[in-house]
Amino acid sequence: MPRAIFISPDGASAEVDVAIGTSLMQAATVNGIEGIVGDCGGAMSCATCHVFVEEQYLPLLDEPSPAEAQMLDYTAAPRQPNSRLSCQLLMTEERDGITVRIADPQL
Ligand code: FES
Repeated sequence: MPRAIFISPDGASAEVDVAIGTSLMQAATVNGIEGIVGDCGGAMSCATCHVFVEEQYLPLLDEPSPAEAQMLDYTAAPRQPNSRLSCQLLMTEERDGITVRIADPQL
């Protein structure tokens, strides 16, 4: 199963298995990764699942949808060029090893 790596604001990292088609937000909350809140359950209305995607994985991702891009303007931590909502990042075989830093704060 592909894996995702979450790096906490304090630098600690956690690696979790993520089923194909599962979002990184779902994987983080199911595995108790602190810092990914996901208040809206992935409906793209809370922006509490904000992550910064490590540069080398950006080419594997589609561009944010217009709705995601709009929500990224409402994140608690300042938006950066590699900001994404983890509820919109679905695991694929190609994304195995994707590494994201958890934005802080989320609320
Ligand atoms: S979980 Fe609410 S926007 Fe991602």
